[in-house]
Amino acid sequence: MKKVTVFLGSPRKKNTYQIVREFEENLKSYAEIDFEYVFLKDYYLENCKGCITCFNKGEECCLIKDDLSLLIDKMNNSDGVIFATPNYSFQVTALMKTFLDRLGFLFHRPRFFNKAFTAIVVQGIYGGSDIVKYLEFLGRNLGFHVSKGCCLTALEPRTSLEQQRMTNKIKKASARFYRELMRPSPNPSFFRLLMFRLGRTNIKMILDEKFRDYEYYKEKGWFESDYYYEVSLGMIKRLAGRVFDLLGKQMVRRRGS
Ligand SMILES: Cc1cc2nc3c(=O)[nH]c(=O)nc-3n(C[C@H](O)[C@H](O)[C@H](O)COP(=O)(O)O)c2cc1C
Repeated sequence: MKKVTVFLGSPRKKNTYQIVREFEENLKSYAEIDFEYVFLKDYYLENCKGCITCFNKGEECCLIKDDLSLLIDKMNNSDGVIFATPNYSFQVTALMKTFLDRLGFLFHRPRFFNKAFTAIVVQGIYGGSDIVKYLEFLGRNLGFHVSKGCCLTALEPRTSLEQQRMTNKIKKASARFYRELMRPSPNPSFFRLLMFRLGRTNIKMILDEKFRDYEYYKEKGWFESDYYYEVSLGMIKRLAGRVFDLLGKQMVRRRGS
């Protein structure tokens, strides 16, 4: 049975929660799914202090002792992850942003491969679509394969036409997420391949064993591999990968001159 965990960024249990409930019902109409709710408001998360210790020395050296590793374990133990948040002042809520900042080191050392991700944003009037795109971008950079998220307008009182539109949107988003949940991580796009190759070349040439990023890439075999995980790249992508490696080297050398 697939396990899906939703991280909710609202300080209350209202519109976002109700919409996620509907999403859950739709998902469960396709297959038996173990669905867990993680209300960020119920966890103890401190603000990032900006010391960069997690980037350089490793997350285990972080001085903050809060519930972060518990939340990361929940992602590790899931096949699918959803970030759901209301739109607050054209961004995610502070609860969600605190969580995202605490995950910052994972953008250097992504690890949620072979797991699906989507985003649900709930708004009063306007601005939520950009937040969906932002969260989708984040999901990709954490290693997830991402299904297009959705932005829902939860105005009260709601007409029956508005309710119908919302129900349809949730249905489509949950169908997309279910498809993503059932498939393995895809081959990378040219853009993702470029990002991986440039990133690893930078880390290899600029850092050394004293840095956690360097150690992590070495441990994972990422200095030699085609991509973060095993993929069968076609001839053109393999060639492009080599060009991206050279490009990365040139960029590093240019920085040094
Ligand atoms: C502090 C605050 C800021 C908000 N900012 C926006 C906004 O910029 N754009 C918008 O469309 N709705 C905004 N809203 C409305 C919420 O996104 C909306 O009420 C949402 O449904 C709340 O979800 P919840 O019931 O799960 O808390 C804001 C609400 C609050 C409390």
